[in-house]
Amino acid sequence: MKFRIIELFGGIGACTAALKRLGIDVEVVDYVEIDKYAVASYNAINGTNFEPQDIQKWDKDVKADLIMHGSPCQDFSIAGKQMGGDEGSGTRSSLMYETIRIVEKVRPRYVIWENVANVLSKTHKHNFDQYLSRMQMLGYHNYWQVLNAKDYGIPQNRQRVFVVSVKGFVFPEGKELALRLKDMLEDEVDEKYFLSQKGVNYVTNEKRLERNYTNLNADCSATLTAKGQSNWTGSFISDNPQSVIVDNRGGNIVKQTDIATTLLARDYKGFGNQQMNAVVEDINGKE
Ligand SMILES: C[S@@+](CC[C@H](N)C(=O)[O-])C[C@H]1O[C@@H](n2cnc3c(N)ncnc32)[C@H](O)[C@@H]1O
Repeated sequence: MKFRIIELFGGIGACTAALKRLGIDVEVVDYVEIDKYAVASYNAINGTNFEPQDIQKWDKDVKADLIMHGSPCQDFSIAGKQMGGDEGSGTRSSLMYETIRIVEKVRPRYVIWENVANVLSKTHKHNFDQYLSRMQMLGYHNYWQVLNAKDYGIPQNRQRVFVVSVKGFVFPEGKELALRLKDMLEDEVDEKYFLSQKGVNYVTNEKRLERNYTNLNADCSATLTAKGQSNWTGSFISDNPQSVIVDNRGGNIVKQTDIATTLLARDYKGFGNQQMNAVVEDINGKE
């Protein structure tokens, strides 16, 4: 699957080029750049057909894994007039807040921001901090560092701050249970694993069933533990519990429940003087 990116303030596409050089199979979902000459260069380099567009008007419904932006830095740069980048100030550097607006809409997994190191200076740091906190509020973890091109194989003394924002880990959503506890059991089970009459009586005891100490033919076993050697409390499966237990094991099935309690790893060992799990099989017709 391709790695979908949106390159904002794309220029000649240094970010796209870097990812491609890393061997990443990139799909540029959109490239946003206002300067028509930069766009023409980008198209020539990448064989694309993007049109110039103003980030302030960008409002598309697209999905992306990564948004990269090297937002205008003139107003933060020591080479500039130090106009700053406060939100709503109208400076070119304040366009970085457009990225935040777009991130909020697209919600990519990653965002990378690159800018001049002077954004960390006393004069501009509040905007840098504001960027971090806004990203954090959107659920991203930020990692940033000042890197120098000369330390990465490029003979140029060029310092830039990079902020990599990663959307917080989200646990996958639960899905409907397709397998049942019964599906996990073997079809052929050795006799030694069956409950004895004593066990069946214990397991099918009305009070224990009512209190869910024992469950019959539950869809789902409760937590398995390593110490269940002698615990008769738990989940029990029968192909036909009514006939199995009543006709062949002599117990009374009073109730079936949907959710099993804990299954224990050593239940197979048989009955002990404490409770344990076991499997009840329909042996109707057997001696
Ligand atoms: C610092 S450069 C980014 C360079 C880019 N990372 C590259 O690889 O060439 C900032 C870019 O933002 C573009 N830009 C400025 N205002 C813009 C706007 N309103 N909408 C889109 N792009 C804009 C500029 O034309 C410039 O190319």
